[in-house]
Amino acid sequence: MNILILGGGGREHALAWAIKQNPKTDRLIVAPGNAGIAMLAEVADLDVLDAAAVVAFCAENAVDFVVVGPEAPLAAGVADATRAAGILTFGPSAEAARLEASKAFTKEICDACGAPTAAYVRFTEAGPARAYVKAQGAPIVVKADGLAAGKGVIVAMTEAEALDAVDDMFGGEFGAAGAEVVIEEFMTGEEASFFILTDGVNALAIGTAQDHKRMGDGDTGPNTGGMGAYSPAPVLSEVVQAQAMAEIVLPTIREMARRGTPYQGVLYAGLMIEGGRGRLVEYNARFGDPECQVLMMRLGAQALDLLLACAEGRLDQARVNWADDHALTVVMAAKGYPGAYQRGSMIHGLERLPEDSRHMCFHAGTLEKDGQILANGGRVLNITARGASLEEARNRAYGMIDHLDWPEGFCRSDIGWRGLARD
Ligand code: AMP
Ligand code: GLY
Repeated sequence: MNILILGGGGREHALAWAIKQNPKTDRLIVAPGNAGIAMLAEVADLDVLDAAAVVAFCAENAVDFVVVGPEAPLAAGVADATRAAGILTFGPSAEAARLEASKAFTKEICDACGAPTAAYVRFTEAGPARAYVKAQGAPIVVKADGLAAGKGVIVAMTEAEALDAVDDMFGGEFGAAGAEVVIEEFMTGEEASFFILTDGVNALAIGTAQDHKRMGDGDTGPNTGGMGAYSPAPVLSEVVQAQAMAEIVLPTIREMARRGTPYQGVLYAGLMIEGGRGRLVEYNARFGDPECQVLMMRLGAQALDLLLACAEGRLDQARVNWADDHALTVVMAAKGYPGAYQRGSMIHGLERLPEDSRHMCFHAGTLEKDGQILANGGRVLNITARGASLEEARNRAYGMIDHLDWPEGFCRSDIGWRGLARD
């Protein structure tokens, strides 16, 4: 079949890598893709937020299956448009993607279905929000309701920080995303991500992972989109997964269906785990990046069969074949990220990296120019490895990094530390 993946980061490189290995794949196109993706698939210059353009592209290229990577095209209704045009599509409708696009909506769903999450209040004006912060005290969490490129959440350790966040949000710092603000209880515990495929009725757990959001070793420095990840996440034990499935995921799926807006795609549940029990931090309507890279490394070619079963509404018949393995990915970023950074530096040594079912360098932000790979983003490469143990996966990934010569880049040296500390 002919498959179109929308997106151009490390997540989409990993999806393309896994899908390409499946014999069902004839033609594989990724839009817009990147230099790494171009080594294994066709790349197309297509505005992925333009639903009509995506539908027209599918018709011209006889696309049988569309996989939507990032949240922006989901929120823009691209999956609705391709499905309406009769094209099999993996990814939720814009209505269902509100589970990511609106924090207030997610809270409303949690209330309606009884899913455990932080206590909260919604605000549309600064005055009452400030009064609430003063009454509650710190630590407290202030969230812009809408999509703010991962920057709309302030975990305030002091009251002053929380008040500043309220003022910034109502002052327009996050544009329309901050017109409504959710203020919630600060939850303690260990955070991990649970990935579930759902066709709107059936749910299939496809793995757990833990991300590293801070820029620096020891979880210090500013927040980023994620500096590395590993799967499985031991804190998300079988028991916690069963509890999260029964108390959070399944009730959410049923509530979305009951409202006439069934959720189809991957549901990424960010959980805070304490005392052997998970509470919902947030939902995302897409695979995590870089969590997807470690999930794809473990799933391999069967990922396509699972995405198809999801899109075709037959997840009740799907099974995941698990290898007893571990995967870990280290993000290499341009120096300066997540602040200002330079584009265009040359990355040397990529040809020395092994590429097989145990080692893969996924490209997140790269550009090819005259045969040379250049950095073209903040997060640039995802050095990913698989092993029989987390330690083996970690050693393989860092071993690959030793082959690279890229003075303008950096990475954390402690990816996987929480999981390794448990061994
Ligand atoms: P979000 O964009 O909702 O993922 O929030 C970003 C990060 O803020 C999460 O991954 C958590 O680390 C943290 N966070 C969000 N909500 C809470 C909460 N209620 N309590 C503690 N930490 C939180
Ligand atoms: N790595 C976190 C995310 O994709 O939202």
